[in-house]
Amino acid sequence: MDKAIGVIDSGVGGLTVVREIMRQLPQERVFYFGDTARCPYGPRSTDEVRTFTLQMVSYLLRQKIKALVIACNTATAVVFDEIMQHAPIPVIGVIDPGARTAIKETKSGVIGVIGTVGTIRSRAYEKALKRIAPDVEVYSYACPDFVPLVESGIPDPAAALEIVKNSLQPLTTTSIDTLILGCTHYPLLADVIAQVMGKEVKLINSAKETARELSSVLHYRKLFTENSENVPPTHKFFVSGSSSVMKVIAQSFLHVPLDLQQVDVSNEKVCTISWTKT
Ligand code: DGL
Repeated sequence: MDKAIGVIDSGVGGLTVVREIMRQLPQERVFYFGDTARCPYGPRSTDEVRTFTLQMVSYLLRQKIKALVIACNTATAVVFDEIMQHAPIPVIGVIDPGARTAIKETKSGVIGVIGTVGTIRSRAYEKALKRIAPDVEVYSYACPDFVPLVESGIPDPAAALEIVKNSLQPLTTTSIDTLILGCTHYPLLADVIAQVMGKEVKLINSAKETARELSSVLHYRKLFTENSENVPPTHKFFVSGSSSVMKVIAQSFLHVPLDLQQVDVSNEKVCTISWTKT
């Protein structure tokens, strides 16, 4: 059986990236790990985010994956460089693809970024944007209320609109024409965010560009799965804690059979040097 694409996230948000991978690369198997026991990563320290992320990666590397997508902005911001340096397989994060798309889309050169406290504190998007276009003007805001809202299943749309309005208020007075949804959960709130920001502001969801980058890497490295018999790939989903939100979102959103296992990764060793030997 062909090796899978490993995808990791702090919880369910990375499924927005998985959906795009399945759409663009329907012949590829996906092994998804959502660290639901320790979600959210956004308010955690850099050390915690690093350790937890490396534990998921170590586990998935033993499942013989051929490429890894870090489908979590907070984890990408904190530990992408280290993972990329040591993992024996290609690694793709969500920040560079999102930044590239924003630069392509902006006309005014004024870009907004919203994300978790950890992502915004790292200034990872700002650095990625300025590496591509040094003159770009960037407004970054943390929206810590959005992840709990999505995780709760958005039970009250009117209350959700109020929360989004309050959080984005500082951005509505800027001249941004492009807004990066710098958190995997935010695409699930895209309609509400669009309502608050108005039609003139283009929302950037890095999932599409991340899947495109994955596709190029697989082709370039000759890792692409040729599925000449058209057999649907078998995916696997791993969670470290609760699986209930994962079940609801995965089934309504991905429409694939859910092979779901609960795995405790808290005892995984996090020595990245040892990965080269896997
Ligand atoms: N997956 C995280 C991210 O994209 C959001 C959820 C969390 O805070 O863990 O930043």
